[in-house]
Amino acid sequence: MQLLRIDTSTRIHDSHSRKVADEFQKQWKSINPAGKVVHRDLVKNPPPHLSDLTIQGFYTPEEAKTPELKDALKLSDEFIAELKASDTVVISLPMYNFGIPSSLKAYIDHISRVNQTFEITEQGVFKPLISTVRKIVFITATGAVFSNPQMQALDFMTPYLKTIFGFLGITNMQVLAIEGSSMDPAAFEKSKADVSRKILEWAD
Ligand SMILES: Cc1cc2nc3c(=O)[nH]c(=O)nc-3n(C[C@H](O)[C@H](O)[C@H](O)COP(=O)(O)O)c2cc1C
Repeated sequence: MQLLRIDTSTRIHDSHSRKVADEFQKQWKSINPAGKVVHRDLVKNPPPHLSDLTIQGFYTPEEAKTPELKDALKLSDEFIAELKASDTVVISLPMYNFGIPSSLKAYIDHISRVNQTFEITEQGVFKPLISTVRKIVFITATGAVFSNPQMQALDFMTPYLKTIFGFLGITNMQVLAIEGSSMDPAAFEKSKADVSRKILEWAD
């Protein structure tokens, strides 16, 4: 069993999303004592934006890839291999400016790759190629409370995550939302308690 944990909050020490990811990992490890945890910290080791060469590599057939193109694909190859080798993926993230952190977007750009994680059939239909990941859990932290119906239209984070990971084939998803960290202390405390309870159900 392998858990892939990805952290993305720029705040290393006081981050709510990182703290909940610690709880999740601890619970997962107690259920899977022999399981392996692979940890990617996208703040301590930020993935670069895609380069011209990396994109050329994405669209060059294997037999035509030069050593330079192969080199430009190394990080993408590594990310995809470890993602496909994982049973469970947990991503902790803050909302920044109504969306996901840019480091996570850069990561997603490296793993969303034609003929590796999705394909386009002869009929021009998109087909996902990740079939090995059993479950993905998003631990989100927001300053405002997006479970309020009047706020939902401003959430460009959760719908995007569901769309892109579903597109790649990971459809068993759970969102553990810590809300109101800077705007609503009561909602914040309640969401933290809810999330801790859900971790006991979901971290298997
Ligand atoms: C640059 C920046 C942008 C933010 N943008 C939003 C936002 O659009 N909506 C929101 O609800 N909270 C926003 N916040 C608040 C964070 O989402 C909130 O503090 C969250 O708890 C951060 O996650 P962390 O505790 O894991 O670091 C923003 C915070 C920062 C630093």
